[in-house]
Amino acid sequence: MTDSTERDRLTVVIFGASGDLTRRKLAPALYHLYRTGALPQMCHFVGVARSEMSDDAFRDALMSGVKEVSDDGLDGWDEFASRVTYVSGSSIDDDSLAEIDRVVSEYCADGSKDNRLYYLALAPSLYAGTLEALGRGGMLDESSGFRRVVIEKPFGTDLKSARELNDVVHSVLGESQVFRIDHYLGKETVQNLMVFRFANTIFEPLWNRNYVDHVQISVMESLDTEGRAGYYDKAGVLRDMMQSHLLQLLALVAMEPPATSGADALRNEKAKVLQAVRKYESDEAAENSVRGQYAGYREEDGVASSSSTATYGAIRLYVNNWRWQGVPFFLRSGKAMAEKESEIAVQFRPPPHTIFETRNAEVTPNLLQISIQPHEGVHLTFENKKPGTRMGTAPEKLEYHFPPQVIRDSYERLLLDAIEGDQSLFTRSDEIEMSWQIIDPFVESWQTSLKSQLYPYEKGTHGPAAAGEFLGTARNWHHHGSDQK
Ligand SMILES: NC(=O)c1ccc[n+]([C@@H]2O[C@H](COP(=O)([O-])OP(=O)(O)OC[C@H]3O[C@@H](n4cnc5c(N)ncnc54)[C@H](OP(=O)(O)O)[C@@H]3O)[C@@H](O)[C@H]2O)c1
Repeated sequence: MTDSTERDRLTVVIFGASGDLTRRKLAPALYHLYRTGALPQMCHFVGVARSEMSDDAFRDALMSGVKEVSDDGLDGWDEFASRVTYVSGSSIDDDSLAEIDRVVSEYCADGSKDNRLYYLALAPSLYAGTLEALGRGGMLDESSGFRRVVIEKPFGTDLKSARELNDVVHSVLGESQVFRIDHYLGKETVQNLMVFRFANTIFEPLWNRNYVDHVQISVMESLDTEGRAGYYDKAGVLRDMMQSHLLQLLALVAMEPPATSGADALRNEKAKVLQAVRKYESDEAAENSVRGQYAGYREEDGVASSSSTATYGAIRLYVNNWRWQGVPFFLRSGKAMAEKESEIAVQFRPPPHTIFETRNAEVTPNLLQISIQPHEGVHLTFENKKPGTRMGTAPEKLEYHFPPQVIRDSYERLLLDAIEGDQSLFTRSDEIEMSWQIIDPFVESWQTSLKSQLYPYEKGTHGPAAAGEFLGTARNWHHHGSDQK
């Protein structure tokens, strides 16, 4: 339950309410939060988009989204739906915003506190204009209740545009009102990474350059661009995945233990990691990366026949601090892969000397795999005696998996955090800018074929073979417990 009092009223205003994100993610999350009593008793949901739609048509659209993603039934749907309103208008139009303001203020005519969460489920090109319009209309003023704004990813397309957008944000909002969302941080297994590291003593002493050989962070998608190639072609894997999800995961793996569980302590530690990541020149970025494009991508709608946009990327980063000096962090992501899998793999160094007969020439190094999706859980591979009369060894696994039914969609957790004002799992302005600083040289080097070759790969594979060679000798990409060269 929230800490709101009986006189607190909450209105969630979603801009871009006729879109995919609202239907597939926000509606199911808000409905489930409402149904489980997690929201304040007095709450309303206002959807805003330019399309003409009745309240009922909008409610039906939300219901279809809920049915699509969940087979939990629709208990209490009518009560939830009675709190949903649709306003047809543009988020950058002053008159439309005045109408929205009137609708929301009316809910509070009984003197209740007018708390608002604005969710920008809009094309990124509308973020700045919408914030400016909200500011002009006095709709971010907190004298009658809190005003918080959730901003979707991508936040900028490079360092320059991210800085410009942050300038607009800070011209109308305090940083404490801003919730830059990266839904990866709302995943149960990503949060478990922090519990795993900081609520256990046995791993932390090993979590450094003395024991870790390298770290792999993979976010692989089995789907291709699914008819959104026109959008994807402008972004590519670096902007779409690396700058946000993968660098946030790297920050969580590599950070020092925060002094407290508060948002600032956590975000300070993540920012320190991003600051310590070695920044490449574009030539160095080319040497420390491999890019690929799946066969058939250039034939998709909205993609130029000569497009050099990468649908697969692997990059090598170093965190220049005492803990991680010299340890490579390999980040990779691709579309149209053999499997959907997101995983962090920490490979430890092999023992310095082997006295046993092993299946291979050497003992298999210990491997810790934190599986983010699917099969959310943790695997630890360790060497075990091979049963028999001889003293041989073979790798075995200890595993824990979250029961699937306990895993809720990350938007649920993140929406509730934003409503409650907890910014821990949202990205601060400096983190965003440092992430672009890391990624921009890769973008630059990948734009010229002289610096970086674009490798083709077949759909349904693990990406280009060059990505395996890129890891170096005696290292394999790990996935779902098996290894791939
Ligand atoms: N879909 C996802 O799973 C997902 C995941 C992560 C991040 N995101 C991010 O979330 C944002 C929204 O994505 P989406 O997939 O929902 O896009 P979408 O399907 O294109 O929806 C955006 C909606 O915005 C509305 N819109 C356009 N101009 C508007 C304006 N001036 N005022 C109010 N509404 C306006 C459009 O409806 P009208 O034409 O009716 O106005 C449209 O339905 C994007 O920034 C995207 O990068 C989406």
